[in-house]
Amino acid sequence: MLRIGVLASGRGTNLQAIIDACESKMINAKVAVVLSDNEHAYALERARKHGIDAFFVDARDKKRHEERMDELLQSHDVGLVVGAGYMRILSPWFIERWYGKIINIHPSLLPSFKGVDAQRQAWEYGVKISGCTTHFMDDKMDHGPIILQAAVRVNEEDTRDTLAERILKVEHQILPRSIDLFEKGRLRIEGRRVRILPGDTWLGKYSYPDVLYSEGY
Ligand code: GRF
Repeated sequence: MLRIGVLASGRGTNLQAIIDACESKMINAKVAVVLSDNEHAYALERARKHGIDAFFVDARDKKRHEERMDELLQSHDVGLVVGAGYMRILSPWFIERWYGKIINIHPSLLPSFKGVDAQRQAWEYGVKISGCTTHFMDDKMDHGPIILQAAVRVNEEDTRDTLAERILKVEHQILPRSIDLFEKGRLRIEGRRVRILPGDTWLGKYSYPDVLYSEGY
């Protein structure tokens, strides 16, 4: 069974979505370990509640931080690393070791609004459509080959928070689905593009009628 290592810095709702998808057998995988650079991250508490090994990995020394994370991921036989609200940029050393087996979720339609608080960037810019993206991580921030995207409408009365909340619900769908596609061997990285091999769909089962999901969802 695919063993997942999750990197999280905050409250961990994306982690929770992955845990729930595994426990409900929506995806054939198991969260083997959760790592955080923030000892107070609620994500660590979520892991412990589900009997999952959880570690605070001090990030004051970046090299030691990444070496320790690598050790823990290897010792837990992780086959896929998932950045789920992990707020640091990983070094080329780390990315090189995990490229093709490390994915990330970002709360905008990349390449728009990279970086921190993408939801606020989009809302303040005045976009009418925003959304979220999963992608393979490479050595640049929010830049690697895109796996799935989903488009979410911005409403007139939206605030940054109401928009972020609407996007978050869709993040909780496309991230587990991206793991599912990886586990099924349906992802092929071809340069900047990710080809998704034919197979089942989550449309109609785990999808909102007013959200546009990219092919392969
Ligand atoms: C999410 O929007 C995620 O995309 C971003 O941080 C927000 C919180 O994520 N990186 P989580 O609730 O900690 O999973």
